[in-house]
Amino acid sequence: MSTVAKTPRPTDAVVSARVFDVEKIRRDFPILQQTVHGKPLVYLDNAATTQKPLAVMEAVENYYRRDNSNIHRGVHTLSERATEHYEMARTSIQRFLNAADSKEIIFVRGTTEAINLVAQTYGRQNVGSGDEVLITAMEHHSNIVPWQMLCEEKGAKLRVAPINDQGELLLGDFEKLLGPKTKLAAVSHLSNALGTINPVREIVRMAHAKNIPVLVDGAQAAPRMKVDVQELGCDFYAISGHKMYGPTGIGALYGKTKLLEAMPPYQGGGDMIASVTFEKTVYNRLPYKFEAGTPNIADTIGLGAAIEYLQQLGVEEIERHEHDVLAYATRQVGAIRGITIVGTAKEKAGVLSFTIDGIHPHDIGTILDSEGIAVRTGHHCAQPVMQRFGIPATARASFGLYNSREEVDALVAGIHKVIEVLG
Ligand SMILES: Cc1ncc(COP(=O)(O)O)c(C=O)c1O
Repeated sequence: MSTVAKTPRPTDAVVSARVFDVEKIRRDFPILQQTVHGKPLVYLDNAATTQKPLAVMEAVENYYRRDNSNIHRGVHTLSERATEHYEMARTSIQRFLNAADSKEIIFVRGTTEAINLVAQTYGRQNVGSGDEVLITAMEHHSNIVPWQMLCEEKGAKLRVAPINDQGELLLGDFEKLLGPKTKLAAVSHLSNALGTINPVREIVRMAHAKNIPVLVDGAQAAPRMKVDVQELGCDFYAISGHKMYGPTGIGALYGKTKLLEAMPPYQGGGDMIASVTFEKTVYNRLPYKFEAGTPNIADTIGLGAAIEYLQQLGVEEIERHEHDVLAYATRQVGAIRGITIVGTAKEKAGVLSFTIDGIHPHDIGTILDSEGIAVRTGHHCAQPVMQRFGIPATARASFGLYNSREEVDALVAGIHKVIEVLG
């Protein structure tokens, strides 16, 4: 009888290192293989948009090469294949967000359109004169302006829950602002300007205790952390494909069936109807009631491929890796003299916003670019956040699954160069 030598069980660290091989992952992203101004590209603008893996590009190309055809209407083979792939993407998103049913996933252009859809349907139906919509002081413009427009139209009031100096939501104030007139609360899961992760489950619990539905802007959270809409309990959740390694121009709105059923359609046209006469139109069932016209079929299929890619890598693994890179960047960048990190919440992910004494963020961005490092500078579509911190702008490094500690070292060297040249 032969004996089999027992191999020692690998530690978590070993497993993690083996599973999450950044160098290998980077080979899936052709765009990262280039030099910019003669330096290897260090792409740290992932909160604006992420790069696309080959799997996504191939899915879009394959659709155009083999299956291009309109969906839902045709009986021919190409149309059936296109419909199948389009609907498979919906199921992938349903599983990714753990929605109860795929009909709760509505395809839209992105987070902005998802929020506008809710404002223009649920909002117009339920918000009246003297009512209130509650948001927070850390919202992106897309989770401010649609509510402002609705409130203006209806004579309602936009209320804003404050944040502290670390960029954390003051939960007690938020709860106090949930009043009898509040018809909806809309909060970001992860702030694009500060990196703050909001305690969404707690927020939902507070709002639901007063029968107030909650919309969550998940544009930054969905690519960075495990999202389970049933566990969060939220009523709506908005995502953008291009921030999740998928194509631009496609995203999704999750909504609870009961709410979506009761909402009027967003736009009228083909596909969103069951029958039409000149006297009366009967709307289609969910989710098609909200998807008028020929949709963005190719990019929906691309988004489906992106979701599969994320799931193959493992969302928890991605979260752990990005946490490590952000923690390292916070220590290294924070140690540089003259740097102020804007947004120091205990619960953070993905985003490092900073200023340098006496140097305009725009100049930081320009010099970093000359070193091949892409960061974003400006107000990050969150002007009220800048006002809250009394600054016009920040420089923002935002991390993705393919970023490494070595790239953080390049950023640190770049910042030293900025200080040397302009400080
Ligand atoms: C927190 C947050 N919400 C909403 C948006 C808007 O997303 P999109 O432009 O994809 O609609 C962004 C984009 O930067 C964001 O960061």
